[in-house]
Amino acid sequence: MPSYVRAGSLPHKRHIQFRRPDGGLYAEELFSTKGFESVYSLLYHQRPPTATLDVRPWHRPSVTFLPNDPLRNRHFKVAQLETSGDAIDSRRALLGNDDIVLSIAHADRPMEYWYRNTGGDEMLFIHQGAGTLETPFGELAYRQHDFLVIPTGTTYRVQPAAPTRMFVHESSGAIVIPRKYRNEFGQLQEHAPYYERDFRAPLLKSPVLARGEYEVRVSNRGRHAVYIVENHPCDVIGWDGYCYPYAFNVEEFAPITGQLHQPPTAHATFEAPGAAFCAFVPRLFDYHPLAIPVPYNHSSVDCDEVLYYVSGNFMSRRGVEEGSVTLHAAGAPHGPQPGAVEGSLGKSRTDEIAVMVDTFKPLHLAQSALDVEDPAYFRSWIEAPAT
Ligand SMILES: [Fe+2]
Repeated sequence: MPSYVRAGSLPHKRHIQFRRPDGGLYAEELFSTKGFESVYSLLYHQRPPTATLDVRPWHRPSVTFLPNDPLRNRHFKVAQLETSGDAIDSRRALLGNDDIVLSIAHADRPMEYWYRNTGGDEMLFIHQGAGTLETPFGELAYRQHDFLVIPTGTTYRVQPAAPTRMFVHESSGAIVIPRKYRNEFGQLQEHAPYYERDFRAPLLKSPVLARGEYEVRVSNRGRHAVYIVENHPCDVIGWDGYCYPYAFNVEEFAPITGQLHQPPTAHATFEAPGAAFCAFVPRLFDYHPLAIPVPYNHSSVDCDEVLYYVSGNFMSRRGVEEGSVTLHAAGAPHGPQPGAVEGSLGKSRTDEIAVMVDTFKPLHLAQSALDVEDPAYFRSWIEAPAT
């Protein structure tokens, strides 16, 4: 939804007759959000997307979340979590609340069905791997360090060309570009750390005309079903609008740096109900001659902070590794570990990549996270941590 996109063949006005070569009418679909009040697109299908042959139960396992009790900072060595399968069934929930669920997935095989989450937007962060996100809007080729933002209600398949490790964000609402980056017309402002051309829209392919029995697994906030539909989801001849899946590679993020340490909000990427997202990418450190490059101690009393460590040397964090997730709980003090401040002095740049989610409601813990927890993490700020 960064800007208007049109693809393929369209009638010259919306909501008018638009005929196929065989004389039949294309089936127009309004793909809208917040009822009919927010961003939307219009898609033209070969045949109606409503043709449902059967609806079956989908006994999707539910996740039990436990409170972060005793309330403390935590470190999960998520890279050690064994999981495989397709992009949906390999998901392992780590943390969640009513606004967002954060999971890891490791897709090593293609999806043999379609998936549609109608409970909110999803954002897949590709840690490693490459492949294709297939949707009715077209195909998005993805690569390492891409964010794939998938609007609620989008039917999709993830087809890995290489095993794909993902950090999955399932929001209960819309994942959007922060208002502070946009002007009164929605265009990204000159001070924003990215620009419209950094965002990749799907590439519409020739419509698939086949009819058959196509499986679409649908989830909506704890309710699930398997739909068997008659028409291939990718039978679209054209579409236009502001609501579509898109990709943004975090390496395109142009970080804002300063004379003194910039707060995480300077690195904001997206926002969603009850959640804010940031990206820490390779950048020059602060240039005051006495600057301290690593963060100050703080206790973010209003939010739980989650960091997913992607690559590089995480200078201010002791013990974390690629694929680690830390949860800094609201009110629990944290900051550079002993030695990190002195170690950072005089450094001119960092090569780290990490993505962050702040949530404004408490995050709860899934068993998958607890299974790989480093239980000593909360003691990592003392001079000689227990071994
Ligand atoms: Fe923090």
